[in-house]
Amino acid sequence: MFEINAIHQKILSPIVSFLIIFVIFMVTLHYHRFGPKRIPFVYGSGEVKRFSFLERAIHLFRLISFAFLALTGLIMAFNWHSWQNLLFASPKQMLDVHIYMGIVFGVTTLMGMGLWSKDALFKAYDKVWMKMSGGYLGAKGEVPAGRFNAGQKMFYWFTTIFGLLIIITGILLIIKYQFQLSTICLLSTIHNLIAFILIAGVLAHAYLGTIANPGTWRVLVDGYVTKTWAKHHHPNWYQEVVKSKKQDIREEMSEAQTEGLPEEKIKEDDTEPENKDDSEDNK
Ligand code: HEM
Repeated sequence: MFEINAIHQKILSPIVSFLIIFVIFMVTLHYHRFGPKRIPFVYGSGEVKRFSFLERAIHLFRLISFAFLALTGLIMAFNWHSWQNLLFASPKQMLDVHIYMGIVFGVTTLMGMGLWSKDALFKAYDKVWMKMSGGYLGAKGEVPAGRFNAGQKMFYWFTTIFGLLIIITGILLIIKYQFQLSTICLLSTIHNLIAFILIAGVLAHAYLGTIANPGTWRVLVDGYVTKTWAKHHHPNWYQEVVKSKKQDIREEMSEAQTEGLPEEKIKEDDTEPENKDDSEDNK
């Protein structure tokens, strides 16, 4: 038991917490070197529905619960007493918040797993995405992607596997007094390590969903993206949406809607999306 604790505190925790700093360093480096993938925005050029209300609600509750879990978990892992005193009335109250948020995270993780499992299945064209690193490291030309690209599919499986593991170890830790001390130490070591890995992964995911790909965060707000965004980021999915009878596309703005907008902003957007890597902004 002593060995598990010592390995946990002296070796594993420092390594995995370094992971979080490493991810922050890497995304900063990536942003500095490649910048955001900007897609030309044209007012009124049409929009495509990407996430339903249910998908957005599940993602939102998963995000909020994860943020609380990460905060309270880090406070516990590193004994940040001042943060605990500032934000919570007692350690017991903080643990309660951790457990209730764990339940929300567990339920939304299971729902997300079910909802997106079909979109997360790998297709032949995902190999091309991988070879081109999704265009994130300077590869030029169209990068094939279905509703989710290969990177998002990997992230789905990452959150599914590690999400399930953290939920199972969390449930066992709630009933920890049933177990021997050595089992409790092992469980909490696994729980903590997975938490650090998940936090590092979610930081990279949040970077890609916001500053690295401007316009993407809107998926979480009203569920729509511009047609240009869809054509550029998910060309195979866009083709399916256009062909599908169940398509949900907001067409170009009517004259009344565009009234008052500057002339150059209301023209139809027929242009092929510009590849950020070819553009001047990248330099
Ligand atoms: C600040 C935190 C977060 C931000 C800004 C964020 C942002 C986003 C965005 C913009 C999308 C839509 C991507 C698209 O339509 O192409 C998305 C999808 C998704 N998010 Fe998040 N998210 C966050 C936290 C989380 C957390 C905590 C989880 C689960 C642990 C998660 C799991 C997913 C999954 C599985 C998808 C679908 C696949 C993918 O796009 O990778 N997200 N997120």
